[in-house]
Amino acid sequence: QNQEIQNLYEAHEWLTKLYHHLLRHTKEGKDGYEYLQERELTQETIDTFQLGYAPNSKDFTLKFLQNKGFHPQTMVRGGLLSYNEDNGEYGDRFRGRIIFPIRNHQGKTVGFAGRSVHGNDPKYLNSPETELFHKGKLLFNFDLARSEIRKQGEVVLFEGQMDVISAYQAGFKNGIATLGTAITDAQAKLIRRYVEKVIICYDSDNAGIEASYKAANLLHNAGCDVRVANIPDGKDPDEYIHTQGSEAFRNHVLDSSATYMGFIIKYLRRGFNLQHEGDRIRYIEKVLDEIAKIDKPVERDYYLRDLASEHDLSLEVLEKEITDRRKKQG
Ligand code: UTP
Ligand code: MN
Ligand code: MN
Ligand code: MN
Ligand code: MN
Repeated sequence: QNQEIQNLYEAHEWLTKLYHHLLRHTKEGKDGYEYLQERELTQETIDTFQLGYAPNSKDFTLKFLQNKGFHPQTMVRGGLLSYNEDNGEYGDRFRGRIIFPIRNHQGKTVGFAGRSVHGNDPKYLNSPETELFHKGKLLFNFDLARSEIRKQGEVVLFEGQMDVISAYQAGFKNGIATLGTAITDAQAKLIRRYVEKVIICYDSDNAGIEASYKAANLLHNAGCDVRVANIPDGKDPDEYIHTQGSEAFRNHVLDSSATYMGFIIKYLRRGFNLQHEGDRIRYIEKVLDEIAKIDKPVERDYYLRDLASEHDLSLEVLEKEITDRRKKQG
């Protein structure tokens, strides 16, 4: 058991080096290298993240691992090879994909994300859950970002690896991401152990907004000071940084992020047509529910005044509503 884990660590390390070497120095990796150049990653960035390329072959990785003395069966359990039940053959799992090594919090590679460069589905093929790789506990780039997160007292949570990497290249070295899954309680608690302020910086499409809402609540409940950034024009952070530059990203995205409540209120508003009286009242009730949950009196007062003035309501009535709600909460 222990030996198998040891072997899997070693195999991940070999493959990280192999795929990186292929990308950087061989014609087998040319497709991958050109793709990353098009995405404006520098050589330094490619090296820092040890990005690689898995050739479009059914047995290149298989032969490499066998030559190193690894058993194919073990490699399948580690998510590094695939097994075809129909013909009983082992083969490469990642084919013709850019390889993003996923490091654990100690900096050891424990899995891979493979992005297709020729538009094949799925866009990202990730390592499955293995003895080394637990998606719900890992945070991408946490090992590199940790000291920067502490220093800045702030972490930026992105949706994808490319966002983290582009931000890092642009000088934002405190970025992390989950691995294509919603953030878990364990991840939120881990973040909170290192830092209080978290800026959620997801894609600005619908999926990104829904995911921001879930992440904001989870992180808020874990005790974080949550901010939610908004990328204009339906872009994602990677695209925004490359088209608008890092100064705009700092000023117009990170430093303009909404507070937790500011975001929640904006989010709730989406489902209502505030021109309709009935909708407007139900919306106000919902916002009151949210404000009543806030523990800091000053913060409650702030949002309550906002609500009162926006809808031309009496502050006294709203305050009574809050008092009633808080009594019920106990
Ligand atoms: P996105 O579709 O926003 O991808 O999914 P992206 O990060 O912008 O990637 P590029 O820029 O197109 O290369 C966000 C994240 O969801 C996961 C990945 O972790 C991705 O970074 N994902 C997405 C998958 O795991 N599988 C997929 O097929 C797609
Ligand atoms: Mn997305
Ligand atoms: Mn995206
Ligand atoms: Mn996308
Ligand atoms: Mn993207």
